Amino acid sequence: MDKAKWWQDAAVYQIYPRSFFDSNGDGIGDLKGITAKLDYIKSLGIDIIWSCPFFVSPWADGGYDVADYRSIAPEFGTMEDFDEMIAGIHARGMRFMMDFVGNHTSDEHAWFQEALKSKDSPYHSYYTFRPGRDGKEPSNWASIFGGSAWEYVPELDEYYLHLFAKKQPDLNWEDPAVVQEVFDILNFWADKGVDGYRLDAINYLYKEPDFPDVEPMPGSPYGFATEHYANKPKVHEHFRTLHDKVMAPRGLTTVAEVAYLDEETARGYADPARGELDALYPFDLLNVDQEGYDKFSPLPLDLPSLKRALSHWQSVMHDHGWLALFIGNHDQPRALSRFGDEEHYPVRSAKLLANAMYFLQGTPYIYQGDEIGMTNPHYASLSQFKDVEALNALREGLDRGDSEERWLKLLNDRSRDGGRAPFSWSADEYAGFSTTKPWMDPCTNYKDINAAIEEDDPDSVLNFYRRLLKVRKGLPAVIYGSTEFLEMDDPELMVYIRRAEGQELISINNFSGSERSYRLPAGYETAELLISNCGDPIIKDGVIDLRPWEAVTLIVNC
Ligand code: GLC
Ligand code: CA
Repeated sequence: MDKAKWWQDAAVYQIYPRSFFDSNGDGIGDLKGITAKLDYIKSLGIDIIWSCPFFVSPWADGGYDVADYRSIAPEFGTMEDFDEMIAGIHARGMRFMMDFVGNHTSDEHAWFQEALKSKDSPYHSYYTFRPGRDGKEPSNWASIFGGSAWEYVPELDEYYLHLFAKKQPDLNWEDPAVVQEVFDILNFWADKGVDGYRLDAINYLYKEPDFPDVEPMPGSPYGFATEHYANKPKVHEHFRTLHDKVMAPRGLTTVAEVAYLDEETARGYADPARGELDALYPFDLLNVDQEGYDKFSPLPLDLPSLKRALSHWQSVMHDHGWLALFIGNHDQPRALSRFGDEEHYPVRSAKLLANAMYFLQGTPYIYQGDEIGMTNPHYASLSQFKDVEALNALREGLDRGDSEERWLKLLNDRSRDGGRAPFSWSADEYAGFSTTKPWMDPCTNYKDINAAIEEDDPDSVLNFYRRLLKVRKGLPAVIYGSTEFLEMDDPELMVYIRRAEGQELISINNFSGSERSYRLPAGYETAELLISNCGDPIIKDGVIDLRPWEAVTLIVNC
């Protein structure tokens, strides 16, 4: 890669619109709310805004259950509000990426409603219906959100497949009419000025049609059948078609969310020579502080595992694709609460996480609120949680006899709701997010952690993010450099070097509340400071004395 594509030196801001900013005092974030905050977003140094879905939806899964792909949900505003938002984004020299939920629709989508009417409906084959087996589900596949992946429809005496919630029936991409519908939707929004797509759960498009039974999970009749539906070869074909027919001719950029990725598949999706996708975020990258795929079985962060995972993806994708770099998103608890020390070093550790992640190779994705060091909301009651995954897991936990106290902590620490509380704009009532009680309660600490108090404080997390995005821009070592992790087994230090022709940098991060000293590798004696989170670093005779949670990036032009 000698010349960067525009999105390779860009920074992305991810918005969860329902919780971003409420412009009309109904307690729900909306599109006008996004438009009102565009100057704020621009001031961070952002090039691309990606918003999670804001389409008509019964909101069974945070809007990822779309009932009408071409209509803005009334609580988010109107098509005029959308036009105004996108014009505002473009007027500020930014671009807009839309979330496209292509693996499934809502069960309230007109296609599914038609499909339910009769086996002869042309819409019936838009979805996957199967007869039962021995009076039970067609297979023992588990839904990602708990329970069976099949739901019975008495009127048809058939089951339909839903890898996610039962209100999210999976689309059947083997029906060419479905693919045509997808093209039409993608073109519809491209006509309205969208610059790219974030493709949701898109590596599940193809399911093995015989639905073999799988090994059940302990204590459950159901098992995860990912080997039969994740990243099947047919998915590559679908990506190539999308690329050739829609994305490339219209100059749209793509990033896909992909779980259960191996090296070959990742390169297959993202190698520019193959014409499939522009970039990926390996979704399971952050599964480093839990048992297997069970986020509600937390483990303390094992830094060496995190480094191995990051290092692996850096080398897999170097020259073979492009990565989205992220420390959080709407499907994760807050990064600061999880990987930092929000109690003793909230500001420093929030900055460290940015320094540790965003000098890697890839495009920084900044999830709303991480740039001001927002934490998990620390709710006092189970009734404050909203997310379908959290509520299903809670029900299963309580059914097993777990205590409510245990689940209050688990949901506070681990649920997706952790990242979905309203943005803390100010110390005003309701965190300045709304003038009325919001759909979800604000973080308990919004009076101390909010954008307004950070705005003019040069040492705030917010101003660190601004500096970081500014200094990283255009650096050859950041855009093109290879990545080498050092001190791989050290449980507290994350250190890596980025090397390009004529330029190198080193990012040094002390993930601990203790002081640590670290001998700089040869050649860094004369390095210049690019950014740090504790003022001037203490460097003597080639040794840097790191304070708790200190993060430093040094650069050498050679
Ligand atoms: C993706 C989304 C998540 C959603 C799921 C099903 O993982 O990021 O929020 O629940 O897909 O659409
Ligand atoms: Ca509103």
